[in-house]
Amino acid sequence: MNEKLVKAMNEQINKEIYSAFLYLAMSEWAMQKGLKGAAHWLYVQYLEEMAHGQNIYRYLQVRGDPVELYPVAKPESGWNSLLEVYRDVLAHEKTVTASIANLANISQDVRDHATSIFLEWYVTEQVEEEGNATDIIQRLQLAGDNLSGLLMIDTELSARTFAPPVVPGLPPAP
Ligand SMILES: [Fe+2]
Repeated sequence: MNEKLVKAMNEQINKEIYSAFLYLAMSEWAMQKGLKGAAHWLYVQYLEEMAHGQNIYRYLQVRGDPVELYPVAKPESGWNSLLEVYRDVLAHEKTVTASIANLANISQDVRDHATSIFLEWYVTEQVEEEGNATDIIQRLQLAGDNLSGLLMIDTELSARTFAPPVVPGLPPAP
């Protein structure tokens, strides 16, 4: 694969794992506040982000390109409300969307069609990620300072299930 593309893919692995760490920190914040449904939702998000990183790792291996693992930064912390947490989720996902778009652009520039197709899954996934965060923000805004509204949303968040994301065409891990 093109050197610039390999470097950007390796950087994306780091970004996905940083995302996982950020959501794990948010999950811990929610747990401390007694918001177990949100803690669960954010933990599932952590698992998904780890899988996003693992699938890029796996893709590079299948293509025979070197994987490089970079240090993962300490995630942010210290939110004041669940609304603030989800606003940060959305803001963070927007930066990830931009990063995936940049990768897709590089893959097209270097005419790496296989990587363009691989990245399509990620492009679509980002639409879903931003949409989910936007929905939850809207519901939290509707609840406002109403505690029973917040607890109802927390119960809804507890229903999220985790299914390992499958990227089409990617052979299973060794
Ligand atoms: Fe991700």
